[in-house]
Amino acid sequence: MAVASSAHSTIFSKTSLFHHINGFKRFSFCLPFSSSAAASISSKKKWRQPVASSELELGGIKIAKDDVVRDDPTNNVPDTIFSKMGMQLHRRNNHPLGILKNGIYEYFDSNYPNLFDKFDDLCPIVSVKQNFDDVLVPAGHVSRSYNDTYYVDSKTVLRCHTSAHQAELLRRGHTHFLVTGDVYRRDSIDSTHYPVFHQMEGVRVFTPDNWEASGLDPTSYAAEDLKKSLEGLARHLFGAVEMRWIDAYFPFTNPSYELEIYFKEKWMEVLGCGVMEQEILKSNGRSDSVAWAFGLGLERLAMVLFDIPDIRLFWTNDERFTSQFSEGQMGVKFKPFSKYPPCYKDMSFWINESFTENNLCEVVRGIAGDLVEEVSLIDNFTNKKGLTSHCYRIAYRSMERSLTDEEINDLQWNVREQVQKKLNVVLR
Ligand code: DAH
Repeated sequence: MAVASSAHSTIFSKTSLFHHINGFKRFSFCLPFSSSAAASISSKKKWRQPVASSELELGGIKIAKDDVVRDDPTNNVPDTIFSKMGMQLHRRNNHPLGILKNGIYEYFDSNYPNLFDKFDDLCPIVSVKQNFDDVLVPAGHVSRSYNDTYYVDSKTVLRCHTSAHQAELLRRGHTHFLVTGDVYRRDSIDSTHYPVFHQMEGVRVFTPDNWEASGLDPTSYAAEDLKKSLEGLARHLFGAVEMRWIDAYFPFTNPSYELEIYFKEKWMEVLGCGVMEQEILKSNGRSDSVAWAFGLGLERLAMVLFDIPDIRLFWTNDERFTSQFSEGQMGVKFKPFSKYPPCYKDMSFWINESFTENNLCEVVRGIAGDLVEEVSLIDNFTNKKGLTSHCYRIAYRSMERSLTDEEINDLQWNVREQVQKKLNVVLR
């Protein structure tokens, strides 16, 4: 099955930046039900998503809804994102994401007994400093924009990658660690992108006694160990696959690489990694050391390993999905239950200067939640007066049941109304 080839690849590589500039990025997401839009249809629809409870507890910390969602121009987090924050899919041992996390733990535990400290309940609300500055993301980098990241206020974000925890853990004295968690990104909508997904970060620090005897310089020593460890991890997960290393760019590592494997007749990116920038080690009390780091997207790998065709399935409570997975059963193939028919609706409008596809997708998910499968630009032209028109095709499809014409028309009517109101565009 040709799935997940693009699910949440890394955002900080140069190619990602290029994609962002073109407005056709393929990495992150948008969100489900925004408060006001959902309210107008929720009363009569029993299929709407559960309303978020007003408080949740994460890693022993209580988070109230207004710690995350605020009616303030520096806040762009909708209710529906808050409702996902307590889900903790990666901590469920019989969920594909939990099974994969445990499978990776197993690799590190058996190859490096008692070496790696594991964290999977660090709070996803982090400072701009943790998420960006501490890992050397440049000041003007596109990932810092309100269009790409969920801001709680001007100094606080929902982490957009687990790298946000590197610095604090180094400072706390950890030298070998794995951090798994939910990460949040505003993005377009398709079968491999969702506004919340999961990553695992790995870091290993070396001291001079490690590399001195090797005859290698510290950076080469770390790079060699990194490649050996991650090739072992890829074999543990995928079996005897062909692999290749691609030179990459990340602000936090130098040199940087991506590991690709040849799987189902295609090269697939598995993770991003590299030798940690010396400045990060120096700022966090480790100037005498070198380190490697990697980051991988759990959904991306789980979709391939378990044959899961749509990223929305990870979030479903439908027993026809959940009952197919159990603890320790790595790579059991998902048997799709019947596929319900999609319904396509097109809408055209004149855009303005501030229009972005992420904002459009945010509005659509705010109304249709997980009933929207894909939003794609199918036509784009500029007229003689310089006005630009976009036509988007919205695919509605439930994974759980058939949708009625009436409810799709209802959704589309709401989408048109809200797109016009919230995005200030002129419908055609
Ligand atoms: N944080 C990167 C992303 O989300 C992934 C990553 C790449 C993490 C390289 C790392 C690394 O630790 O060394 O796009």
